[in-house]
Amino acid sequence: MLLSLAWVTALLAALLALRVGQKLYFPYFWKDAFFLAKVVRYGARLEASKRRGKVVTVVDTFVRRAAEAPGKTFIIHDGARHTYGDVDARSNRVARVLAERGTLRKGDTVALLMSNEPDFVCVWFGLSKLGCSVAFLNTNVRSRSLLHCFSCCGARTLVVGADLLDTLQDILPNLQEDNISVWAMKEKTPYPGVHTLLDKMEQASDKAVPAELRAATSLRAPTLYIFTSGTTGLPKAAVITHLQALKAAAGFWAYGGTKDDVIYTPLPLYHSAASLIGIGGTIELGATCVLKKKFSASQFWNDCRTYNVTIFQYIGELCRYLCNQPKVRENEKEHKVHMAVGNGLRQDIWREFHQRFGEIRMCELYGSTEGNLCFMNHIGKIGAVGRSNMFYKLLFKYALVKYDMVKDEPVRNKHGFCERVTKGESGLLLSKVSSQSPFFGYAGSKQLSEKKLLNDVFVKGDVYFNTGDLMAEDYEDFISFKDRVGDTFRWKGENVATTEVTEITGLVDFIQEANVYGVEVPGNEGRAGMAAVIVRPDCKFDGKKLFDHVVSDLPTYARPLFIRLQESMEMTGTFKQQKFQLVASGFNPTKIADPLYFLDYTEKRYVPLTASLYENIMDGQRKL
Ligand SMILES: *[C@@H]1O[C@H](CO)[C@@H](O)[C@H](O)[C@H]1NC(C)=O
Ligand SMILES: *[C@@H]1O[C@H](CO)[C@@H](O)[C@H](O)[C@H]1NC(C)=O
Repeated sequence: MLLSLAWVTALLAALLALRVGQKLYFPYFWKDAFFLAKVVRYGARLEASKRRGKVVTVVDTFVRRAAEAPGKTFIIHDGARHTYGDVDARSNRVARVLAERGTLRKGDTVALLMSNEPDFVCVWFGLSKLGCSVAFLNTNVRSRSLLHCFSCCGARTLVVGADLLDTLQDILPNLQEDNISVWAMKEKTPYPGVHTLLDKMEQASDKAVPAELRAATSLRAPTLYIFTSGTTGLPKAAVITHLQALKAAAGFWAYGGTKDDVIYTPLPLYHSAASLIGIGGTIELGATCVLKKKFSASQFWNDCRTYNVTIFQYIGELCRYLCNQPKVRENEKEHKVHMAVGNGLRQDIWREFHQRFGEIRMCELYGSTEGNLCFMNHIGKIGAVGRSNMFYKLLFKYALVKYDMVKDEPVRNKHGFCERVTKGESGLLLSKVSSQSPFFGYAGSKQLSEKKLLNDVFVKGDVYFNTGDLMAEDYEDFISFKDRVGDTFRWKGENVATTEVTEITGLVDFIQEANVYGVEVPGNEGRAGMAAVIVRPDCKFDGKKLFDHVVSDLPTYARPLFIRLQESMEMTGTFKQQKFQLVASGFNPTKIADPLYFLDYTEKRYVPLTASLYENIMDGQRKL
């Protein structure tokens, strides 16, 4: 979206030249052109601020909004209203306490472990006002992985929400050993060495923090770290620069949002969707955000009616849960919601959703946290995540290339280059890395960043970002999501990194080797975790022990629901574990000769997967 003036001129020329033929050949011409012009205008604004050497960040916009309309409601949470002025003042207090009592300096990174609550935003902005970068920690992540998060983004300070302090109990000694100072959003705490923030905030001044502390000189300076379970290993800290934060904040605006919109955000703030698009986008519009602590399908529409919600954020499974709810009122189309922005909505659910809840404009937006490419389906065609066209292709260099599902890698031809798929065919989505579409990588690991890149794709020396997503482009230039390749799958709205689960599962003493993958279960979005396991010689599979281990060390969404015992593990030609065959064969005990087990929370152990249990899972009686 970063465009020079030359681009804009070229674009306008192209628009004029094509005007004549458009009616016949390009049914979406004006919609495309209008949308692109908007995007170009935003890009030009960023470009201009860069030229002046003064970057207007998301927090700068927030401070301006708070000055212009301090009494405007910014966040509604749990029935309470917090104005732009309230959040501004409270974030000043956070900044003052941490600056005076802590040892924070501009440029430091601070980790934030908090549920969805207004103070998440107050602490985030307070730290930004001090010129610190903030690392959002996933509140589901357990001990071992959490400690790792500190080392990769170099945080020396942790701010933890009152309700999450107890979850840190077992790693507090490790944090203290590493001299990480822990601040709890409480007035007092039973843990020695943990600082309290709330009591000190009461005494602190709420006067504005000097603007020069937060001043950013470059769009490419990091401002946040957001953890993704990318494609390999433990969570990785994606570097979020001001540029990415500003692009994401334009999401609602690009789709036509205004300051009168009320945006409902039931997604976790530690993900980029809620924080960058949701909160950032609310600020860009000067609108109001209804921040929900946790998504609840039964409260969803009541909340929307109570607060006059006009836009909500979703992930695919959220809409499925809403459709699965029993009908509780006569007219379910009675609400003010006119638009929803999110990702991963399947065609069938999309149609059902429209039929039941009315013609809400579903705006699909595709882009990974760390990726350098973004698609938007501004036409609203059902089933598509994005739309391409000739202008878009001029601005964003992406490609769909042939992928070998069995070898789990892109196909290389006899010259060693990748090959584009034909229209309609699924291919791996790659996005060219250039100064216009930079890739900022992951904090603390050059190696991991490089693993996301493919070299020599079409010519010697070119570099592409590997999204890991299989997509297809149809004859009308609509792009749709097909599948995720290799080492990650999605379950309950979270990315599950198979290597992380493999590593942690492999720590159980009777397991010699584990291979984790995802299997499709009818009626569920994404894939359920499954592990093929080899038991050590002279050991026996212990369903209780494995259950206790995965429950204590893995977040709910990452726990393998199915276990398949195997005698030996197949490898690919490049010595990666073979997953394709395993995924394809699923978990049907009448078809698979290997012993199968199922994660049973009532029995608190892995129990044998019987044919009747399988039937219950398949017809939805047994919820996962
Ligand atoms: C923690 O601080 C103490 C005292 O300042 C110092 O001796 C020690 O080396 C530090 N440990 C680490 C891991 O930085
Ligand atoms: C929602 O809108 C109605 C009618 O426009 C209004 O009476 C009500 O006060 C609004 N509710 C909120 C919470 O703003």
